[in-house]
Amino acid sequence: MRAEPAPQGAPWQVSGVLLEEAVIARRVAELGAAIAADYAGREVVLITVLRGGLYFLADLCRAIDGPVRLDFMGISAYGAPGQPGGVRITKDLDENIEGAHVLVVEDIIDTGLTLNYLLGVLRSRKPASLEVAVLLDRDQRRIADLPIAYRGFRMPDTFAVGYGLDLDGGLRNLRYLGALSAQALSDAGLA
Ligand code: PRP
Repeated sequence: MRAEPAPQGAPWQVSGVLLEEAVIARRVAELGAAIAADYAGREVVLITVLRGGLYFLADLCRAIDGPVRLDFMGISAYGAPGQPGGVRITKDLDENIEGAHVLVVEDIIDTGLTLNYLLGVLRSRKPASLEVAVLLDRDQRRIADLPIAYRGFRMPDTFAVGYGLDLDGGLRNLRYLGALSAQALSDAGLA
């Protein structure tokens, strides 16, 4: 892990780089090529959960050499973090996905509860196919076992920020995946 200065004005100290921008870009290009080959000219509807998935989505859709459409869903979880609780839709899709080839694009899967809920909702709308692309698979706390067709990286049970992942709403726009310093983790009540 390489030391990296905190971005100007960042309230938390980023202490290192877990995944360099170029490493992420290379993997996203590979995933895009695999998706384009698998769908072979069929239109894919990429559905992302707001908000963290936006960054991966923006790069992934441009790495797919083929027809794609985008749609978005908002989901809110309640109950204790990391525990089975409830999930509800705060923003629904704009388009009808019946008969469509749907690929759910997520930045990270942790417990799997969000995606498990989402897949259930989407399946009930009768898409022609339903698959998952995730950039970061952090499976140490997995509760719901999910089929992942396209996986960027497996990652350790580490709190990460950047490339869509936030700390208290901030740091999503880092171009790399960063780790927080021990002090920042402690300040944020995460250590
Ligand atoms: C993240 C991520 C997934 C969810 C995964 O979203 O984008 O939607 O957590 O966690 P799970 O597998 O334990 O359900 P988050 O709740 O951080 O919201 P955000 O996308 O707005 O950052």
